[in-house]
Amino acid sequence: MTALLMAIQPPSVPIPDRQSKCLAQLQAVSKDYAVRSGGTVTALEDISLDVRENEFVTLVGPSGCGKSTVLKILGGIIRASGGTHLFDGKPLDKPSREIGMVFQRPVLLPWRNVLDNVLFPIEMLGWNVREHLDEAHRLIKLVGLSGFEKALPQELSGGMQQRVSICRALVYDPKLLLMDEPFGAVDAMTREEMGLEVLRIWRERRKTVVFVTHSIPESVFLADRVVVMTPRPGCIVLNLPIDLPRPRTIDMEFTPEFKAYADAVRGAVYSSKRSA
Ligand SMILES: Nc1ncnc2c1ncn2[C@@H]1O[C@H](COP(=O)(O)OP(=O)(O)OP(=O)(O)O)[C@@H](O)[C@H]1O
Ligand SMILES: [Mg+2]
Repeated sequence: MTALLMAIQPPSVPIPDRQSKCLAQLQAVSKDYAVRSGGTVTALEDISLDVRENEFVTLVGPSGCGKSTVLKILGGIIRASGGTHLFDGKPLDKPSREIGMVFQRPVLLPWRNVLDNVLFPIEMLGWNVREHLDEAHRLIKLVGLSGFEKALPQELSGGMQQRVSICRALVYDPKLLLMDEPFGAVDAMTREEMGLEVLRIWRERRKTVVFVTHSIPESVFLADRVVVMTPRPGCIVLNLPIDLPRPRTIDMEFTPEFKAYADAVRGAVYSSKRSA
């Protein structure tokens, strides 16, 4: 496969900076969950992953393979059962203001309007809300929700609610953005638009992103690197750098280079499913 991928590299493709600093690191991480019927479920086994500063990593794999578990460990929401987890070179065992998280479902506060939902983390951090008002308005505009500042979550579509949660994760300017299938509830067209929006935010604000998705084309389209996980207990079967030019455009999906990457990811997903 490496030979195939080398053969499809156009000579002009800039190679992303793989020398940049490692921002988040998992070394031989495992995770066992206690289950109510007694005993444990091993969700992850021997996961090692380096996420470099400014990198866009996508995580793909079948349902239940442990993608959300990896994200929650990276976010300091849950602890690994074994192995090491470092953020910015230090162990992390609780959520950090340097990390923003967008969950699989938007989880907005239903009684707060869009603006107040976006500003919620600022209040939680005990920061001055007035000083962050301009930033909240800038983010709302960036995701195309100007005019909806006073709307309640119930007055928004699923995709619009997810945009609010993206703003909420960005308002305190975290270094690392963890996104767990953020476009699960939106149609294919909106999904493409939102993918482009996330890429724009990532580029303009120089974030590091780990993004979980079920969609193989989306995993290639967004990423500097695609990581494929096996069914439970999850481990990593493919760590594939994507050397497609940036900025990415929708029509790239029709190129032979894109198709070869998507085929390589698909091959890894399905071979791991078969051998499970
Ligand atoms: N709190 C928990 N208690 C017990 N088992 C859990 C818990 N959370 C997750 N698991 C188990 O760990 C495994 C991995 O779950 P996880 O949610 O990380 O998978 P996933 O890859 O994100 O799945 P999906 O694609 O469906 O969102 C599953 O088998 C699940 O049953
Ligand atoms: Mg999940």
